[in-house]
Parts: sequence; C-alpha cells; structure tokens
Amino acid sequence: MTATRRAVAVLISGRGSNLRALIEAAKAPDYPARIALVVSNRADAEGLRLARDHGIETAVIPSKGKERAAFDAEVDALLRAKGIELVCLAGFMRILTPEFVAGWTGRMINIHPSLLPAFKGVNVHEQAIEAGVRISGCTVHFVIPELDDGPIILQAAVPVPPGATPAQLADLVLEQEHRIYPQALRWLAEDRLQIDGRAVRIRGAAPASGALISPAL
Ligand code: GRF
Repeated sequence: MTATRRAVAVLISGRGSNLRALIEAAKAPDYPARIALVVSNRADAEGLRLARDHGIETAVIPSKGKERAAFDAEVDALLRAKGIELVCLAGFMRILTPEFVAGWTGRMINIHPSLLPAFKGVNVHEQAIEAGVRISGCTVHFVIPELDDGPIILQAAVPVPPGATPAQLADLVLEQEHRIYPQALRWLAEDRLQIDGRAVRIRGAAPASGALISPAL
C-alpha cells in the first residue's frame, strides 16, 4: 500500500486541528494517502509547526497584498511541482479563483463546520445558534467555485445543547470534523467517490451509522 499512497497537500491558515486528524489517520498502514505538503498563507499558522514536527514539508505563500489570481497561481505551481494529487482545505481562509478550482476539480475537498447548505461563510456557530437549530454538524464536500458549496461527501450531525455558546458548539462539532475528514479523504484516495450531479455516490461503502450521516449511499 505504501508505494501507492496518494500525495496530498493540506492548505491551512491557522490552528490545524483537522490537519492533525489527517496526519494521525495517515499513520495507519492501510491508509491510502500521505500528507506530502502543508501550505499556509500565513507564516504564523500553528499548523505549520505541527507539520514540521511530523517531518512534513511546509510552504508559506503569503497572500496579503497580492492579487488573488497571482496567489492562486503560485499555490498551483507549487502543488504541481511537488507532484500533489489531492488537495484538502482545512481552515484555509482564502476564497479560491474559479481557475484554480477548475484545475483541481474532483480532487480538492473542504471541511465546513455546519450541515451544508445551511450556514455558509464565517461565524458559522453564531449563525446556527441564532437560527435556533437543534441539530448542527459538519460537512466534507468537493470544492467548486461557489464558497462552501459543492457535492457533499460526508456529514456528521451534532445536537445543539440548550443554551450552548458558539464556542461550546464549535468544540462539539470539531470533534466530529476530526472523525469525518479522514474518512472522506480515505474514500477520495481510494477512488470510491463518484460525483453524480450535486450528489456523491460512494462505491462499496458500509451503511452510515451513529453520528455519521452519509448521503446518497
Ligand atoms: C474548522 O472548524 C473547519 O471546519 C473550518 O475552519 C476550522 C479550522 O480548524 N473550515 P483547524 O485549523 O482545522 O483546527
């Protein structure tokens, strides 16, 4: 398996707890992907240190004051130079150009801390609490040019405790993010995901159980 692992780049801007979950998952001997590169648009992203501690190559490509297209072109060139096959966005706080996204269609995924299509953008947990939802959660989806949109691979549901603050809800959801992101990347790396319009079919997947809710099985 080791020789055929897919080379993955993780794009981050901050803490990197999802990056950590992916790194940990990839330690399993049967995991079909390896984290080959971590790219951040911020030099102070905590996740960079985590990557370095694991001996993973890192790159900082500053985005500040740069044209969006120029930044994206730099990232794209680096990913291709390094032989990257799949891209995971993990707390990457940049909107990507349609050109960049087009170059990675079907090979780039993102994690978002809500049950999409609800609550896109930022301050997601504030939005959920303000809306009074009783269930929130997280979503891994293919990236398309529209922000926080794209075919949904996997979701986990999280009941919202009465009176929960946004920070408390964030912690509960984050726990589930760390479960579903490695699973979604596993399926992607195994070539088991088939995009069917706005839905994703997962070839040979076991039925969803527990907090894992997988559409279009
Ligand atoms: C996560 O909540 C993720 O869903 C969102 O940004 C946050 C990143 O957290 N896109 P971390 O950097 O992975 O800890």
